[in-house]
Amino acid sequence: MAQLLTNADKRTCYCAELSASDIGKKVCVMGWAQRQRDLGGLIFIDLRDRSGIIQLAFDSDTEKDVFDMAFTVRAEFVLCAHGIVRARSSVNPNIPTGNIEIAVTELKILSSAQTPPFEIVENSKVNPELRLKHRYLDLRRPDMQGNIIARSKITKIARDYYADCGFMDIETPCLIKPSPEGARDYLVPSRVHPGRFYALPQSPQLYKQLLMVSGFDRYFQIARCFRDEDLRADRQPEFTQLDTEMSFVTADEVMAVHEGFIKYLFKEFFGKELGYDFPKMPWREAMDRFGSDKPDTRFGFELKNLSEILAGCEFKVFSGAISAGGSVRGINVKGGARFTRKEIDSLTDFAKIYKAKGLAWLKISENGEISSSYAKFLTDAENEAIRVAMEAENGDLILIVADKNEVVFDSLGALRCECAKRMGLLDPNVFNFLWVTEFPLLEWSEEDGRFYAKHHPFTSPMDEDMQYIDSDPGRVRAKAYDIVLNGVELGGGSVRIHSEDVQKKMFEILGLTLDEANEKFGYLLEAFKYGVPPHAGLAFGLDRLVTLLLGLEDIRDVIAFPKVQNASELMSGAPGVADPKGLDELCIAVTKSDEE
Ligand code: AMO
Ligand code: AMP
Repeated sequence: MAQLLTNADKRTCYCAELSASDIGKKVCVMGWAQRQRDLGGLIFIDLRDRSGIIQLAFDSDTEKDVFDMAFTVRAEFVLCAHGIVRARSSVNPNIPTGNIEIAVTELKILSSAQTPPFEIVENSKVNPELRLKHRYLDLRRPDMQGNIIARSKITKIARDYYADCGFMDIETPCLIKPSPEGARDYLVPSRVHPGRFYALPQSPQLYKQLLMVSGFDRYFQIARCFRDEDLRADRQPEFTQLDTEMSFVTADEVMAVHEGFIKYLFKEFFGKELGYDFPKMPWREAMDRFGSDKPDTRFGFELKNLSEILAGCEFKVFSGAISAGGSVRGINVKGGARFTRKEIDSLTDFAKIYKAKGLAWLKISENGEISSSYAKFLTDAENEAIRVAMEAENGDLILIVADKNEVVFDSLGALRCECAKRMGLLDPNVFNFLWVTEFPLLEWSEEDGRFYAKHHPFTSPMDEDMQYIDSDPGRVRAKAYDIVLNGVELGGGSVRIHSEDVQKKMFEILGLTLDEANEKFGYLLEAFKYGVPPHAGLAFGLDRLVTLLLGLEDIRDVIAFPKVQNASELMSGAPGVADPKGLDELCIAVTKSDEE
């Protein structure tokens, strides 16, 4: 039976806050029984709270009813214990409080507990679905507790930093007008307006821009965002942005403020100086050198363009790709000659995930023996030119892809990371930040035969490229910047269009008629008529930031109640079925359901 707390049961400290300097003190602790050990006349209970563990001791000096109660305690019972701190006879070097224990004088069982479906221990090997089904238990595990507590520290540091820099914390609405750009919206039906829907925000983008029109000058919000897109390890349908916007600034000033945040964060969180200016790399350079707009610069294996050498070669796989408007590029995986044929075959399969039709390779063993999938199709001069261009030496593995540029960049960009991973080159203690700048303003979709905004439709073109906006829009670069850490896009932002004319032009290029633009974003265009300051901003993905800082791989590990791949939440079973009466009120008919 659960016993009740009284005012006399006031906790004096967390379990792991106690140390040898507390010996002799009377204390009161509360928490969960990690385990109970009954050694006959002696009972030990490891008591756990969010700080760690302390041993409770019961022996021949303990009052009988207290001793008898300790006897009934099982794992995960919730306890309140009063007692005196004393030195431990057998020291446990594995825990910080291993040299002390509490000789218990009074014990309350505040709650009993069923045997949990898995043991509450660090680095559990339990299947992830079971963990998520009982997330409240999973979150009791010390590593998960550590992650969530670290996240809380990081948001506190962020709030401090941005407040000190003059940013106002302002909330923007969660029920907004559906917007057509970007990912799919989550829709919320309106009861009062049948047939109409709110969208949950994909980001506070338009509202933060309007706050600049209102004159708040610097805005900051830890904002929940919702995107109905396919999930991966670094994506959740609802996630959190550390969202900002500033007035009267250039891109460089925005980057400087946020770089300042990352440096402050490292100092406050790790006690570490990030003693370098984050490099700025134009998007074009990032693609050419790394095949990616979020390059991991912890290792080399940079892309080299072999098209000039191979344009006229007899090997149609290569020359054909070039004459079709694509290219042939390669990476030199230094030390990669240690990969076996089987491993190279699996790299080929890996490249195919990125739509590569094949992977050409050449391996030079440590003693100079050459094996290759393509060398026999080329002349000696061509092979030699490749060797020189790739700076190939003994011990190297050259990987080459010939295809449309998009496929070449995607597959080689992914291959260089995959090889580095397999070779153990990805040191989680190295933090290589960089800014990727000068993104293309637009992205052409073959499928839809139209341009899409690469970042979003409110991003400003670069002044020097405005001359191509009508003649060659695909060539126009944007005042957009991403902050990248070790191959992950941590955040992104841009200088916004603040001229009504340019904004209208942008909508036109995106295929919106003036009427459509007015219907969708009329309030923004209207606002721009009343005096809009030049403004720019950036949003960090908070979940990603915390994940990387903690050296983790899955953002679910830093989200208390995450969703799984198919966007459901295993614990509550969300999404659920709606009450038919509620649907009636919303004038909604369900025409197909999961159950069918
Ligand atoms: P963007 O769409 O680039 O920009 O988003 C900013 C950052 O949010 C993170 N992020 C995600 N994290 C987890 N799960 C997701 N599904 C997800 N989608 C995005 C990424 C990304 O870099 N309004 C603009 C910002 C601006 O221009 O100021 C925006 O939303 O880390
Ligand atoms: P094949 O003549 O098709 O047997 O190809 C010879 C070699 O070229 C094999 O190693 C293929 O994997 C490789 N290859 C095929 N297509 C491509 C491509 N698009 N890019 C790079 N290598 C390729």
